[in-house]
Amino acid sequence: MIAPILLVTAGLAAQASAACTRQFLKDATAEYLDALTAGKPTFASLSTGTVEYVENDQAVPIAEGVLSKGVAIEFNLTLYDTTQCASYTEIVATTKHPYVIGTRLAFQDEKVTKIQSIVCDDGDWLFNATGSLVYNRRETWAPIPEAERASREEITAIATSYVDAWSDSAVKPPFAKNCARLEGGFYITSNCLLNFPPPFNVTKGAYTIDEELGAVDIFHNFPFLDASLPRNPGTQTNNLIRVEAKQIRYIHENTVCQAKNCGR
Ligand SMILES: *[C@@H]1O[C@H](CO)[C@@H](O)[C@H](O)[C@H]1NC(C)=O
Ligand SMILES: *[C@@H]1O[C@H](CO)[C@@H](O)[C@H](O)[C@H]1NC(C)=O
Ligand SMILES: *[C@@H]1O[C@H](CO)[C@@H](O)[C@H](O)[C@H]1NC(C)=O
Repeated sequence: MIAPILLVTAGLAAQASAACTRQFLKDATAEYLDALTAGKPTFASLSTGTVEYVENDQAVPIAEGVLSKGVAIEFNLTLYDTTQCASYTEIVATTKHPYVIGTRLAFQDEKVTKIQSIVCDDGDWLFNATGSLVYNRRETWAPIPEAERASREEITAIATSYVDAWSDSAVKPPFAKNCARLEGGFYITSNCLLNFPPPFNVTKGAYTIDEELGAVDIFHNFPFLDASLPRNPGTQTNNLIRVEAKQIRYIHENTVCQAKNCGR
């Protein structure tokens, strides 16, 4: 009976190395934002050479990526996922070079292991950084009172149903009456439900979940939108979703286009 003992030991070791606090994630994400502002891809939790750096689903040398450009950050909204030890940040810049960037940082043993961004700028889907800034500032992303917080599983299931409904009209996501979607720089308050003609094959990538904000971000492919690309897998996107009272309150979509405005 040696095997079960080994499993228990391995389980404890995994827990110990996974210990990750909200404060650590806050500090490390602030370091990343400072580096992004400076255009200097060096910060304490980053050991270059070991980090995987990905933009719009492509591995990019960090020196050629947006992290080396210098971004005039005016707004950021960050999710902290202490269970996975990851953060997700939506970043808006309207001056110098306007951008809306969604970045997920994954950490292990207090070092960044992966930096993954969706980088939207001029010509991307409904891109308007001024609009992104204006509408972001109008929204309220206060911490959900502790007694009212949904679990990780509930937040994940609700947000996933939003994306699944795109290809399956039988899926009925729970939308709040005042649900709003910031899609590029445009604000849609009339209807949050989207549904696209088949075949529509979404593969979901990284999730970042923050129970305190009631929010999750999902990286995934967008099969239909970019008319200049094959449907499968299509283009890259991420959806940031806030759940209040078990209903979808806010959606932020950042979608990259190969052709200007996805050829539409
Ligand atoms: C990011 O947002 C936080 C919270 O609003 C703010 O305190 C911080 O200064 C922002 N960071 C940058 C680089 O703008
Ligand atoms: C971008 O958004 C701002 C704020 O909503 C708006 O005033 C402006 O007209 C928009 N620009 C374009 C080109 O749509
Ligand atoms: C769906 O996408 C995945 C990943 O891109 C691919 O492996 C799979 O073959 C696709 N399925 C269909 C039905 O197109």
